[in-house]
Amino acid sequence: MSETQTQTSRIEVGAVDALPEGSQTEVMLGGHSVVVINFENQYYALRNNCSHQNYPLLGGDVDNGRITCEKHGGKFELATGKAKTLPALKPVQIYKTEVEDGVVYVLPL
Ligand code: FES
Repeated sequence: MSETQTQTSRIEVGAVDALPEGSQTEVMLGGHSVVVINFENQYYALRNNCSHQNYPLLGGDVDNGRITCEKHGGKFELATGKAKTLPALKPVQIYKTEVEDGVVYVLPL
């Protein structure tokens, strides 16, 4: 029974080969859009909603471990979800990522 719960609680993002350095993709987890980012060969997952005005973060520039919201330029730290640049003040939710047998998964923290 718990095995089933484990399987449903994590979402497959895709093969490592399909998610190279610099790529971004979107998955749905628990009814929320989540952006998954490969930055310097580390996978990060954040709620795909800027905390400033509910704008998608997917497609924003990623630099220095931060993603930039394309709407007003707010930056969020990939590892923590913390807002690092105005006008964003509140953090965005982050998720856990894991790689198993060459496949990337996202799951709630
Ligand atoms: S909506 Fe993202 S910074 Fe304003």
